[in-house]
Amino acid sequence: MALLLLLVLLALGWPVHGTWDNCGTCGLRPLASFYGKWRVVGGTNARPGAWPWIVSIQDPWTIGSGHICGGSLITPQWVITAAHCFINASYISTWRVVIGANRLSRLGPEVQVRHIRQLLIHEHYNQPTHWNDIALLELDQPVQCSSYIQLACVPDISLRVQELKNCYVSGWGATTARSASVNESDVLQEARVHLIDTGICNSSWWYRGEIHHHNLCAGYERGVIDTCQGDSGGPLVCKDNYRDYFWLVGLTSWGRGCARARQPGVYVSTQHFYNWILVQLGLRAAGRAAE
Ligand code: ARG
Repeated sequence: MALLLLLVLLALGWPVHGTWDNCGTCGLRPLASFYGKWRVVGGTNARPGAWPWIVSIQDPWTIGSGHICGGSLITPQWVITAAHCFINASYISTWRVVIGANRLSRLGPEVQVRHIRQLLIHEHYNQPTHWNDIALLELDQPVQCSSYIQLACVPDISLRVQELKNCYVSGWGATTARSASVNESDVLQEARVHLIDTGICNSSWWYRGEIHHHNLCAGYERGVIDTCQGDSGGPLVCKDNYRDYFWLVGLTSWGRGCARARQPGVYVSTQHFYNWILVQLGLRAAGRAAE
Protein backbone atom coordinates (compact mmCIF):
# COMPACT_ATOMS: atom_id res chain seq x y z
CA MET A 1 0.00 0.00 0.00
CA ALA A 2 2.80 2.41 0.98
CA LEU A 3 4.63 1.46 -2.19
CA LEU A 4 1.53 2.14 -4.25
CA LEU A 5 1.17 5.55 -2.63
CA LEU A 6 4.82 6.30 -3.36
CA LEU A 7 4.37 5.30 -7.00
CA VAL A 8 1.31 7.53 -7.31
CA LEU A 9 3.19 10.43 -5.72
CA LEU A 10 6.12 9.84 -8.05
CA ALA A 11 3.81 9.78 -11.03
CA LEU A 12 2.38 13.11 -9.89
CA GLY A 13 5.88 14.50 -9.79
CA TRP A 14 5.87 14.80 -6.01
CA PRO A 15 9.28 15.83 -4.70
CA VAL A 16 10.12 12.69 -2.73
CA HIS A 17 13.68 13.77 -1.90
CA GLY A 18 12.68 17.21 -0.73
CA THR A 19 12.42 20.49 -2.48
CA TRP A 20 14.55 23.59 -2.66
CA ASP A 21 12.30 25.32 -0.21
CA ASN A 22 12.40 22.76 2.61
CA CYS A 23 15.45 24.68 3.80
CA GLY A 24 14.01 28.18 3.97
CA THR A 25 16.23 31.08 5.06
CA CYS A 26 19.98 30.52 5.12
CA GLY A 27 22.38 31.30 7.95
CA LEU A 28 20.12 30.33 10.87
CA ARG A 29 21.23 28.23 13.83
CA PRO A 30 17.98 26.86 15.29
CA LEU A 31 19.68 24.99 18.14
CA ALA A 32 22.35 27.54 18.97
CA SER A 33 19.99 30.03 20.55
CA PHE A 34 19.81 27.72 23.57
CA TYR A 35 23.60 27.56 23.84
CA GLY A 36 24.50 30.79 25.63
CA LYS A 37 28.29 30.65 25.65
CA TRP A 38 30.54 30.17 22.65
CA ARG A 39 33.96 28.03 23.10
CA VAL A 40 40.55 23.63 15.63
CA VAL A 41 43.70 24.75 17.67
CA GLY A 42 42.66 26.55 20.81
CA GLY A 43 38.94 25.98 20.25
CA THR A 44 36.32 24.09 22.18
CA ASN A 45 33.79 21.36 21.49
CA ALA A 46 30.84 22.62 19.49
CA ARG A 47 27.41 21.47 20.60
CA PRO A 48 25.29 19.34 18.28
CA GLY A 49 23.69 21.49 15.62
CA ALA A 50 25.75 24.57 16.52
CA TRP A 51 26.99 25.07 12.93
CA PRO A 52 24.24 23.40 10.91
CA TRP A 53 25.76 24.01 7.45
CA ILE A 54 29.08 22.28 8.10
CA VAL A 55 29.76 18.96 6.37
CA SER A 56 32.58 16.42 6.71
CA ILE A 57 33.97 15.25 3.37
CA GLN A 58 35.30 11.72 3.82
CA ASP A 59 37.33 9.21 1.88
CA PRO A 60 36.40 5.78 3.25
CA TRP A 61 39.90 4.49 2.33
CA THR A 62 41.54 6.92 4.76
CA ILE A 63 42.15 5.77 8.35
CA GLY A 64 39.80 6.78 11.17
CA SER A 65 36.55 8.36 10.14
CA GLY A 66 38.00 9.05 6.71
CA HIS A 67 37.62 12.79 7.26
CA ILE A 68 39.54 14.81 4.66
CA CYS A 69 38.07 18.30 4.65
CA GLY A 70 35.17 20.42 5.78
CA GLY A 71 32.63 22.11 3.56
CA SER A 72 29.38 24.05 3.81
CA LEU A 73 25.95 23.34 2.47
CA ILE A 74 24.77 26.24 0.29
CA THR A 75 21.74 24.62 -1.33
CA PRO A 76 20.09 21.29 -0.44
CA GLN A 77 22.22 19.65 -3.12
CA TRP A 78 25.46 21.68 -3.26
CA VAL A 79 28.41 21.96 -0.91
CA ILE A 80 31.14 24.59 -1.16
CA THR A 81 34.67 23.66 -0.13
CA ALA A 82 38.36 24.15 -1.01
CA ALA A 83 39.86 22.96 -4.30
CA HIS A 84 43.04 21.66 -2.65
CA CYS A 85 41.02 18.98 -0.84
CA PHE A 86 40.97 17.04 -4.10
CA ILE A 87 44.67 17.11 -4.97
CA ASN A 88 45.69 13.48 -5.46
CA ALA A 89 42.13 12.36 -4.81
CA SER A 90 41.02 9.20 -6.52
CA TYR A 91 37.73 7.33 -6.66
CA ILE A 92 35.80 10.40 -5.57
CA SER A 93 32.60 8.52 -6.37
CA THR A 94 33.31 6.40 -3.26
CA TRP A 95 33.69 9.46 -0.99
CA ARG A 96 31.00 10.42 1.52
CA VAL A 97 29.63 13.77 2.52
CA VAL A 98 28.36 13.67 6.10
CA ILE A 99 25.85 16.38 6.96
CA GLY A 100 24.41 17.27 10.39
CA ALA A 101 27.22 15.59 12.38
CA ASN A 102 28.95 16.58 15.61
CA ARG A 103 30.92 13.51 16.77
CA LEU A 104 32.26 11.69 13.71
CA SER A 105 32.70 8.34 15.46
CA ARG A 106 29.04 8.27 16.53
CA LEU A 107 26.65 9.51 13.91
CA GLY A 108 23.13 9.96 15.23
CA PRO A 109 19.79 9.77 13.42
CA GLU A 110 19.96 13.50 12.61
CA VAL A 111 22.90 12.84 10.27
CA GLN A 112 22.42 12.51 6.52
CA VAL A 113 25.07 10.92 4.32
CA ARG A 114 25.39 11.60 0.61
CA HIS A 115 27.75 10.74 -2.21
CA ILE A 116 29.30 13.08 -4.75
CA ARG A 117 27.59 13.34 -8.10
CA GLN A 118 29.83 16.04 -9.48
CA LEU A 119 32.98 17.90 -8.47
CA LEU A 120 33.60 21.37 -9.93
CA ILE A 121 37.06 22.78 -9.21
CA HIS A 122 37.71 26.43 -10.09
CA GLU A 123 39.20 26.55 -13.57
CA HIS A 124 41.95 28.91 -12.39
CA TYR A 125 42.85 27.10 -9.18
CA ASN A 126 46.60 27.26 -8.78
CA GLN A 127 48.18 24.96 -6.22
CA PRO A 128 51.53 26.74 -5.55
CA THR A 129 49.94 30.15 -4.99
CA HIS A 130 46.66 28.81 -3.49
CA TRP A 131 44.77 31.15 -5.79
CA ASN A 132 41.11 30.36 -6.47
CA ASP A 133 41.12 27.54 -3.88
CA ILE A 134 37.41 26.88 -4.26
CA ALA A 135 35.30 23.94 -5.41
CA LEU A 136 31.66 22.89 -5.47
CA LEU A 137 30.28 19.41 -4.87
CA GLU A 138 26.94 18.31 -6.15
CA LEU A 139 25.40 15.67 -3.89
CA ASP A 140 23.75 12.60 -5.35
CA GLN A 141 20.49 13.57 -3.61
CA PRO A 142 19.35 16.74 -1.87
CA VAL A 143 19.33 16.79 1.93
CA GLN A 144 16.33 17.56 4.10
CA CYS A 145 16.91 20.54 6.35
CA SER A 146 16.23 20.22 10.07
CA SER A 147 17.38 21.86 13.29
CA TYR A 148 20.72 20.13 12.65
CA ILE A 149 20.96 20.85 8.92
CA GLN A 150 20.67 24.36 7.47
CA LEU A 151 22.07 26.27 4.51
CA ALA A 152 24.90 28.79 4.74
CA CYS A 153 24.40 32.26 3.22
CA VAL A 154 26.95 33.29 0.60
CA PRO A 155 27.26 37.10 0.50
CA ASP A 156 27.39 39.07 -2.71
CA ILE A 157 29.85 41.88 -3.21
CA SER A 158 27.64 44.39 -1.39
CA LEU A 159 28.26 42.94 2.10
CA ARG A 160 30.91 44.94 3.98
CA VAL A 161 32.69 41.90 5.39
CA GLN A 162 35.48 43.80 7.18
CA GLU A 163 32.84 45.49 9.36
CA LEU A 164 31.59 42.18 10.80
CA LYS A 165 32.69 41.61 14.37
CA ASN A 166 31.42 38.21 15.48
CA CYS A 167 33.27 35.61 13.42
CA TYR A 168 33.80 31.93 14.04
CA VAL A 169 35.61 28.98 12.50
CA SER A 170 34.68 25.34 12.96
CA GLY A 171 36.04 21.99 11.87
CA TRP A 172 37.18 18.46 12.66
CA GLY A 173 40.82 19.27 11.91
CA ALA A 174 43.89 18.89 14.11
CA THR A 175 43.62 20.42 17.59
CA THR A 176 47.34 20.81 18.18
CA ALA A 177 49.79 22.32 15.74
CA ARG A 178 52.29 19.53 16.43
CA SER A 179 50.06 16.63 15.61
CA ALA A 180 48.77 18.44 12.56
CA SER A 181 49.68 15.69 10.13
CA VAL A 182 48.05 12.88 12.08
CA ASN A 183 45.31 14.08 14.28
CA GLU A 184 41.78 14.97 13.63
CA SER A 185 39.21 15.87 16.20
CA ASP A 186 36.32 13.48 16.78
CA VAL A 187 34.01 16.22 18.06
CA LEU A 188 33.49 19.33 15.96
CA GLN A 189 35.58 22.23 17.29
CA GLU A 190 34.70 25.90 17.15
CA ALA A 191 36.57 29.09 17.90
CA ARG A 192 35.95 32.79 17.70
CA VAL A 193 38.37 34.64 15.44
CA HIS A 194 38.94 38.23 14.36
CA LEU A 195 39.11 39.31 10.76
CA ILE A 196 42.56 40.75 10.16
CA ASP A 197 43.09 43.57 7.70
CA THR A 198 44.64 42.12 4.52
CA GLY A 199 47.16 44.99 4.36
CA ILE A 200 48.49 44.01 7.79
CA CYS A 201 48.30 40.31 6.90
CA ASN A 202 50.42 40.96 3.82
CA SER A 203 53.05 43.06 5.60
CA SER A 204 56.65 42.06 6.15
CA TRP A 205 56.43 40.29 9.53
CA TRP A 206 53.30 38.49 8.43
CA TYR A 207 52.70 36.89 4.99
CA ARG A 208 54.88 39.27 2.91
CA GLY A 209 52.65 39.73 -0.10
CA GLU A 210 51.34 36.14 -0.33
CA ILE A 211 47.75 37.19 0.38
CA HIS A 212 45.64 37.64 -2.72
CA HIS A 213 42.83 40.19 -2.86
CA HIS A 214 40.31 37.33 -2.88
CA ASN A 215 41.61 36.06 0.49
CA LEU A 216 40.68 36.94 4.05
CA CYS A 217 42.97 36.53 7.06
CA ALA A 218 41.37 35.58 10.36
CA GLY A 219 42.71 34.66 13.78
CA TYR A 220 44.90 36.58 16.21
CA GLU A 221 48.20 38.41 15.95
CA ARG A 222 49.52 36.30 18.83
CA GLY A 223 48.42 33.02 17.19
CA VAL A 224 47.19 30.35 19.69
CA ILE A 225 43.71 30.03 18.16
CA ASP A 226 43.51 28.95 14.52
CA THR A 227 42.24 26.43 12.04
CA CYS A 228 44.64 23.64 11.10
CA GLN A 229 45.07 20.55 8.89
CA GLY A 230 41.71 18.90 8.27
CA ASP A 231 39.76 22.14 8.68
CA SER A 232 40.24 23.09 5.04
CA GLY A 233 37.20 23.85 2.99
CA GLY A 234 35.21 24.49 6.15
CA PRO A 235 33.39 27.68 7.10
CA LEU A 236 34.52 31.05 8.41
CA VAL A 237 31.20 32.66 9.33
CA CYS A 238 30.30 36.05 10.79
CA LYS A 239 27.08 37.19 12.33
CA ASP A 240 25.25 39.91 10.45
CA ASN A 241 25.60 43.25 12.25
CA TYR A 242 21.89 43.93 12.29
CA ARG A 243 20.09 40.63 12.06
CA ASP A 244 20.28 37.25 13.68
CA TYR A 245 21.87 35.18 10.97
CA PHE A 246 25.35 34.26 9.85
CA TRP A 247 27.21 34.87 6.60
CA LEU A 248 29.61 32.34 5.13
CA VAL A 249 32.40 34.83 4.44
CA GLY A 250 35.34 32.45 4.02
CA LEU A 251 36.53 28.91 3.28
CA THR A 252 39.53 27.58 5.20
CA SER A 253 42.41 27.48 2.73
CA TRP A 254 45.94 27.59 4.16
CA GLY A 255 48.36 28.95 6.74
CA ARG A 256 52.02 28.65 7.64
CA GLY A 257 51.96 26.09 10.42
CA CYS A 258 48.97 26.46 12.71
CA ALA A 259 48.30 28.98 15.47
CA ARG A 260 51.66 30.76 15.03
CA ALA A 261 52.05 34.45 15.82
CA ARG A 262 51.47 36.72 12.78
CA GLN A 263 50.71 33.66 10.61
CA PRO A 264 46.91 33.50 10.88
CA GLY A 265 44.59 31.29 8.88
CA VAL A 266 44.07 32.31 5.27
CA TYR A 267 40.54 31.95 3.88
CA VAL A 268 39.00 32.21 0.43
CA SER A 269 36.61 35.15 0.42
CA THR A 270 33.33 33.72 -0.83
CA GLN A 271 31.88 37.08 -1.85
CA HIS A 272 34.55 37.35 -4.56
CA PHE A 273 33.25 34.13 -6.06
CA TYR A 274 29.55 34.89 -5.77
CA ASN A 275 29.07 35.14 -9.55
CA TRP A 276 31.27 32.13 -10.21
CA ILE A 277 29.10 30.09 -7.81
CA LEU A 278 25.87 31.20 -9.49
CA VAL A 279 27.26 30.30 -12.92
CA GLN A 280 28.34 26.83 -11.75
CA LEU A 281 24.93 26.21 -10.21
CA GLY A 282 23.32 27.20 -13.48
CA LEU A 283 21.60 30.16 -11.84
CA ARG A 284 23.34 32.79 -13.95
CA ALA A 285 24.71 32.86 -17.49
CA ALA A 286 28.50 33.03 -17.77
CA GLY A 287 29.52 36.58 -18.55
CA ARG A 288 32.02 39.30 -17.91
CA ALA A 289 31.04 39.60 -14.28
CA ALA A 290 32.11 36.05 -13.53
CA GLU A 291 35.50 35.41 -11.91
N1 ARG B 1 45.44 23.47 4.37
C1 ARG B 1 44.86 23.03 5.57
C2 ARG B 1 43.96 21.83 5.30
O1 ARG B 1 44.13 21.23 4.27
C3 ARG B 1 44.20 24.12 6.34
C4 ARG B 1 45.23 24.91 6.99
C5 ARG B 1 44.75 26.06 7.75
N2 ARG B 1 45.90 26.51 8.42
C6 ARG B 1 45.94 27.50 9.28
N3 ARG B 1 47.03 27.79 9.85
N4 ARG B 1 44.86 28.15 9.54
O2 ARG B 1 43.20 21.37 6.13
